[in-house]
Amino acid sequence: MINIAVLGYGTVGSGVVEVIDKNNEAIDMKSGDKIRIKYVLDLRDFPGDRVESVLVHDFDVILNDPEVKIVVEVMGGVEPAYTFVRKSLLAGKSVCTSNKELVAAHGPELIRIARENSINFLFEASVGGAIPVIRPINSSLTADRILEIKGILNGTTNYILTQMDVEGWDFDKALRTAQDLGYAERNPEADIEGYDACRKIAILSSLAFGHNVNYENIYTEGISKITATDIRYAKKMKSAIKLLASCTYEDGKYYAMVAPFIVRSSHPLYSVSGVYNAIFVRGSQIGDVMFYGSGAGKLPTACAVVADIVDAAKHLDKHIYTFWSEENLQLTGTENATRKFFVRVKKDRASCEKLIKDTFGDVKFIELDDVSGEFGFVTTPVTEGSFNEKLKNIPDVCQSIRLESRI
Ligand code: NDP
Ligand code: HSE
Repeated sequence: MINIAVLGYGTVGSGVVEVIDKNNEAIDMKSGDKIRIKYVLDLRDFPGDRVESVLVHDFDVILNDPEVKIVVEVMGGVEPAYTFVRKSLLAGKSVCTSNKELVAAHGPELIRIARENSINFLFEASVGGAIPVIRPINSSLTADRILEIKGILNGTTNYILTQMDVEGWDFDKALRTAQDLGYAERNPEADIEGYDACRKIAILSSLAFGHNVNYENIYTEGISKITATDIRYAKKMKSAIKLLASCTYEDGKYYAMVAPFIVRSSHPLYSVSGVYNAIFVRGSQIGDVMFYGSGAGKLPTACAVVADIVDAAKHLDKHIYTFWSEENLQLTGTENATRKFFVRVKKDRASCEKLIKDTFGDVKFIELDDVSGEFGFVTTPVTEGSFNEKLKNIPDVCQSIRLESRI
């Protein structure tokens, strides 16, 4: 029998308990032993709930119980999660977590402590919800030099953008529904402003490139300034707006960014809609590999956590080696990245067409049939730095969005 403790009985924590209860036979078989939930820690009481008999409010009960071999941290946030996880590892208990805030901030240290104690710190659910992506980067893709990771890494924002585009919902309704469905972070600003996707790309690129990518150094823009009108322009361009996160290795330099992009309909990420996430990994020899699945939600995420529990159970006294150096990777600024931009101007086209052509050269103008007093245009490829300089010449710009051109 392998005793586990679940810290946090919220969306993911209750999903973990449900999955273990529902699939217990298969899970025990695959673990090679019986998995028993000995404790659930939460701040609240859950009268009449299945966990009532195992519920505790004091973490020390779990820490000081030598029978607990695996701690499942699904509370979220950095503190007290970091303290609880660190203490658990130092006490010789493996930890499985879905908490990307914790992993992005303290991943390499927690992996080192796990290695020093011949146990495991596993975090598959911290990126891409149900999508297996951490494990493939750590095992199946290790033979190749990874050149780029790019994808849709946040389910809430992808759900919001899809509902606004396909159903015509306003932003607030789409966000509220994402919260009701259990997709959003406790503070949804983390989703909307791109911080969550930023932490996830930091985790993936740290694992892919071996050195720590400090999420605080990643240029990050969210979707809070994207409007229904922007989405209509994108539609007119046979495209959709997606929040993309990427990290690229080129000519000896590393670049990382999170921002909304206009993605054309022929691009594989165009049809990734709703809560789904997709991640491209490009290697020098393998070419492109794509991972796709539910990026958030109670049971899909819980399944990824439980798979880590099974792995931890199979390797109780054996560390599964993960290379993530505590040394920081130097990121290069994005001002030299070259791409097209879409720009919206709140003026009559005739009054500034010449100025725009003089500034940006051969642009393509776009207008919406039923919207007057404004127009859009798409530039030819230009560096981010030069674009920002040129844009200063154009009056009454109300929006600019990057165009995605490469996978
Ligand atoms: P919830 O807010 O639904 O659940 C967190 C639970 O932990 C709550 O019941 C909360 O109690 C409890 N909790 C918080 N602090 C403490 C504490 N100090 N001691 C004991 N219990 C505590 O969050 P989620 O389940 O949605 O997310 C959990 C983690 O998983 C987060 O890191 C999140 O980013 C990540 N994640 C979430 C996904 C999703 O789809 N929801 C997908 C992938 C990852 P109370 O409510 O009383 O504060
Ligand atoms: N809030 C996150 C999202 C949960 O929407 O993607 C999954 O990490």
